Amino acid sequence: MSVKWQELYSARARGMKTSEIRELLKLASKQDIISFAGGLPDPALFPLAHFQEVTDFVLEQKGKKALQYSETEGLGELRELLAERSRADDIPCDAENIIITSASQQGLDLAAKVLLDAGDTCLLEAPSYLGAIQAFNAYQGRPVGIPLDDEGLRVDLLETKLRELRAEAIRPKFLYVVPNFQNPSGVTLSMERRQRLVEIAARWDLLIIEDDPYGALRFSGKPLPSLKALDPDNRVIYLRTFSKTLAPGIRLGWIIADKPFVRQIAIAKQATDLCTPALTQHIAYEFCRRGYLEEYVARVREEYQRKCQCMLAAMDEFFPAAVHWPKPTGGMFVWATAPAYLDTVEMFPRAREAKVAYVIGSVFYADGSGRNAMRLNFSLPTLEQIPQGIERLGSLLRAEIASHEGVVTLEPTRVH
Ligand SMILES: Cc1ncc(COP(=O)(O)O)c(C=O)c1O
Repeated sequence: MSVKWQELYSARARGMKTSEIRELLKLASKQDIISFAGGLPDPALFPLAHFQEVTDFVLEQKGKKALQYSETEGLGELRELLAERSRADDIPCDAENIIITSASQQGLDLAAKVLLDAGDTCLLEAPSYLGAIQAFNAYQGRPVGIPLDDEGLRVDLLETKLRELRAEAIRPKFLYVVPNFQNPSGVTLSMERRQRLVEIAARWDLLIIEDDPYGALRFSGKPLPSLKALDPDNRVIYLRTFSKTLAPGIRLGWIIADKPFVRQIAIAKQATDLCTPALTQHIAYEFCRRGYLEEYVARVREEYQRKCQCMLAAMDEFFPAAVHWPKPTGGMFVWATAPAYLDTVEMFPRAREAKVAYVIGSVFYADGSGRNAMRLNFSLPTLEQIPQGIERLGSLLRAEIASHEGVVTLEPTRVH
């Protein structure tokens, strides 16, 4: 008799959904498809020679420690180094404010594990990072979206939402926000809104989970202070990662937070994986100590800027005027919004036929809205593929809009 798995699963597990994005990525992974659907760094840039040099050194000099179990909070010297670098970014902290995680996805999972009871409301941007929505759903949280625009989270609407929730006697557990080059929208929270957000959080006694994987990938303009640097009350839980600045394969990130919270996360983490791999922590420490990280990030930034400009120029050339997109100044994504009648889910099979792929907008909304939007990644496709793929997508969008409006016009409108 075969096991009836569904009957045995916990209510929590039954509530978990498979990621539509992964299903779509499977469809988009055919050889001849130009895919803007991924969210991956460009592997052609990975710093293999430095990585090899540092790994050899670690195995030769520190092999016995690096292959052993290690402290749950993470390698002492790496935490010290990260604390020192954070202080240089105006974040007052020491090593005890830091716990190393298996990249920021684990940071999100642990934060949700520690903060959410079933049915708890948590706030996030709409659209927001899919992995965060999944983590909050996995702990049976109730994610509620607050719209964003070209300057990031609409903090005015946040206050409106907080008032509405208070009228229903609901206190949200936290607000989750990605202030720099947000995934999926590519937008950055303006300075004025950062200040207002921290003030609102203090007034409403609201915790903030600030997730910042892309801040270091800025192409132009001045870096803005993190919410953590503006927060006098230690109410910001700041998630960082080496995934986009070194390599996602080392699965290393860190949380900077108030010490009691870091201790609680460490307790939760013990049940999850005992400790983050010591080997990759030693490697990352040595990589940073030798100054290789800055060198590598500078190269990545330059290359992604080139790719981003290439994508934006192709969109100007080939996309219909009815489609809009904020121009990112960093990160890995462009977010395009079509007229409300256009359905990117329904259009997806036609995109496959045209041999181009994107991520449908609706997966980034906790309530499934956003069906007229799409996320386009520029870090992974090559400079040759980007204009070709955008031209294919532009023709498709043009045809969809024309068929809706009953007009056949396949010539691109050139908007320079
Ligand atoms: C906003 C955001 N947070 C977290 C992650 C998770 O990254 P990692 O676990 O590799 O650090 C990603 C990955 O794309 C992301 O875009």
